[in-house]
Amino acid sequence: MLSFHQEPRLTIKPVGAFDLGRLARLHRHCFEEGWSRSDLAHLLALPGGFGLIARRGGTFVGLDALRGVGFALLRVVRDECELLSLGVLPAHRRRGVAGELLRTAMQSCLDGGAQSMFLEVAIDNLSAQALYDRFGFVRVGTRPDYYARPDGTRMHAYTMRCDLVAALGSRAPQPR
Ligand SMILES: CC(C)(COP(=O)(O)OP(=O)(O)OC[C@H]1O[C@@H](n2cnc3c(N)ncnc32)[C@H](O)[C@@H]1OP(=O)(O)O)[C@@H](O)C(=O)NCCC(=O)NCCS
Repeated sequence: MLSFHQEPRLTIKPVGAFDLGRLARLHRHCFEEGWSRSDLAHLLALPGGFGLIARRGGTFVGLDALRGVGFALLRVVRDECELLSLGVLPAHRRRGVAGELLRTAMQSCLDGGAQSMFLEVAIDNLSAQALYDRFGFVRVGTRPDYYARPDGTRMHAYTMRCDLVAALGSRAPQPR
């Protein structure tokens, strides 16, 4: 029996041909500047490009949770991969969704031949940095004025790198 304290089941699946609309909706709810369906289709069509969608299942979840609560977009090129975007709907944050997406993404990239994962994160995005720190990412550089904000300002980004073998072998947190 489902208790009130039990989280509905989380499933992570690869983005399919019919997921572009829900992916665009998720992205729009997670970032100030959402990526369009055609932006997303272009990224996913790049060699080595793929995406993951997280859904909550179960009797008591709403339509939103069934359609998707989070996503990750990645690209693998030879022995390196890049986390292009990661987001979780505001109402579903701090419940392990991004952690599970990231762990699944890291494993998929390792299985696809990548040894290192890279990403960029705004230097004022402390929540995302806390997540990446926890998974063994380290800051390897700074990109001045990397992000353009809708208000016209710009923000520096850190480049972070993770050794996938080391992280998945011993340090990555286990799913909840
Ligand atoms: C960053 C983001 C993806 C985290 O998603 P989430 O599902 O809430 O993250 P999780 O619940 O899996 O958190 C895992 C760990 O990350 C860290 N973390 C996540 N959010 C945090 C926050 N707001 N403050 C501090 N630490 C945080 C914690 O260590 C957390 O573990 P804990 O909850 O046991 O303390 C989400 O806040 C988001 O979508 N933000 C907007 C989009 C974005 O910034 N994407 C990243 C771009 S680089």
